[in-house]
Amino acid sequence: MRPRVLSGMRPTGALHLGHFHGALKNWVRLQHDYDCFYFVADWHALTTHYEDREVIEKTVYDMVIDWLAAGLDPEKSTIFIQSRLPEHAELFTLLAMGTPLAWLERMPTYKDQIEKLKDKDLATYGFLGYPLLQAADILIYKASYVPVGEDQAPHVEITREVARRFNHLYGRAANHADQVAAALAAMGKDDARYIEKQRKAYGQDGSTEALAKGEALVRKVLAAEALTADQAELLLGHLKGSGKTILTEPGVLLTETSKLPGLDGDKMSKSRGNMIAMRDEPAVVTQKVRGMKTDPARARRTDPGNPEKCPVWEFHKVYTDADTRDWVVKGCTTAGIGCLECKQPVIDAILREQQPWRERAEAFLSNPKQVHWIVEMGTERARTVARQTMKDVREAMGLNY
Ligand code: TRP
Ligand code: SF4
Repeated sequence: MRPRVLSGMRPTGALHLGHFHGALKNWVRLQHDYDCFYFVADWHALTTHYEDREVIEKTVYDMVIDWLAAGLDPEKSTIFIQSRLPEHAELFTLLAMGTPLAWLERMPTYKDQIEKLKDKDLATYGFLGYPLLQAADILIYKASYVPVGEDQAPHVEITREVARRFNHLYGRAANHADQVAAALAAMGKDDARYIEKQRKAYGQDGSTEALAKGEALVRKVLAAEALTADQAELLLGHLKGSGKTILTEPGVLLTETSKLPGLDGDKMSKSRGNMIAMRDEPAVVTQKVRGMKTDPARARRTDPGNPEKCPVWEFHKVYTDADTRDWVVKGCTTAGIGCLECKQPVIDAILREQQPWRERAEAFLSNPKQVHWIVEMGTERARTVARQTMKDVREAMGLNY
């Protein structure tokens, strides 16, 4: 079984090259090595765009088409829509009961976004809960890794805290102590004494070496079949002083992604009007790149420039090879080339990159049923996992009447 990876994107408009190079490219790569779950975070889009239902409605399937066009393979990746799985909302509600308000209020993304999106009223309950809803998304699939940009790392961190707290509060059955005693007894006296010794060393002195020794012994006894898998899990929790792991703490997968700015050198975004959409027509791409601002020092063709002061250079860093970049640096600093000349290899590279996307997208656009079917399949696959987790969660919380 490959470790599970989970990530989501909010459907707030057509995907652009910034999305591709910042996230999607990585998603495509990961599907070869991981059990990938990728979903449309439509509820998350509503936390900030609750007044724009048309945008969300229109964008959901367009975004899935962009994903498929970029190379997500529905045979490898599970693709689904958040709102089709009410289990996310159920887990969100249950986690909300024990999550301190301060954890949410101190999120850096919370104050940032309220500040940035001043034209929207974000003093809402839903927006405050954004990171907790994200935690529910992640925990419900027991994801091992979450590939996200640095800006989202605090959300993965709070997810870990929420899981830890949940396991601490609910990871013990009513007869937990009896079960631990039985598991220790099954190991035999000497081994049980050894486990208790390591547990103390870890609990009192924080000795991770002791923890590792204890864990190694549990695994050895498990391998010798003197313990059941459940008992082994119980003892691993016992060593750490915690209960059973019901919700898995995820790790961040900070894979190297290329930072592609917008046409003006700022962050690429739809609202800034500085983006190239993944599926922009070649003529539009050409026109957009040709219109890009360059180093202001190059007012005339004969003025030398400095690539470091030019957004086109950032595109070269993502799109062209070392020889071309040498040519740019030489040509720019000596006024040997003109800016339009300099932009041409970037245009060529973007068009080349888009070609397979356009072909794949066309096939899906002319067959919307197939896209719905892909989402349907993914949703059902996700539902199987989500249901099982909710069963465990309800049982742990004593909601199994
Ligand atoms: N907050 C993420 C973003 O804005 C989207 C998201 C929602 C997400 N739920 C998630 C990402 C779960 C990873 C895992 O990019
Ligand atoms: Fe920018 Fe290229 Fe013009 Fe230099 S030559 S200013 S790098 S577009």
